[in-house]
Amino acid sequence: RLSHVCSLSHGHCSRNSSIIFNKRLILLMYRKNTPFDSYLCTVEQIVLNPKASKAQKYELALKQAQVLCEGESNLIANLANITALLKETFQWFWVGFYIVDASELVLGPFQGPVACTRIQKGKGVCGTAWASKKAIVVPDVTKFPGHIACNAASLSEIVIPILKNDEVFAILDVDSDRLDAFDETDLKYLALLERLVSPLF
Ligand code: SME
Repeated sequence: RLSHVCSLSHGHCSRNSSIIFNKRLILLMYRKNTPFDSYLCTVEQIVLNPKASKAQKYELALKQAQVLCEGESNLIANLANITALLKETFQWFWVGFYIVDASELVLGPFQGPVACTRIQKGKGVCGTAWASKKAIVVPDVTKFPGHIACNAASLSEIVIPILKNDEVFAILDVDSDRLDAFDETDLKYLALLERLVSPLF
């Protein structure tokens, strides 16, 4: 099976355009018995089977994130690649990290339109998630008291605090231009991502 997979790395995929496989990712996927047929992986990006479910997309994104961060100790490089990976996988309107800096969150690596640079503890969805140390799903941002509108096109949001030893080090913020875009699946998989990101701090 591995030789079959590796042979694909030099050829074309019938399902899509020509691709270059990330060999480390392939080996990782092989070890973990990930279904290759569902996905096409390139070195810098993932091209997903358009029929992949949200859960399948997360499964692959988590593995790719793990591979991307393995052997790289630079926090900014890792967070930047994770946001790029998530943006490409899900086409979210905005995805990024806010990093705790004394009494404020400061904008970190992100993908999407320009955003607010500083958020106070307890303010907005991000500051509330920081203060409560809890993930927050906002199906309609206009209904969240104190929501900070960095961009009017953002309609729903999910925020995950990144904790280490029960202390918040950063916030992962995801915005969608659709109402009610986030659910239990996002909560489940972004919590797994949080476990991967936490040791980077
Ligand atoms: N809406 C967030 C602010 C950050 S931006 O959405 C990128 C909030 O209310 O905290």
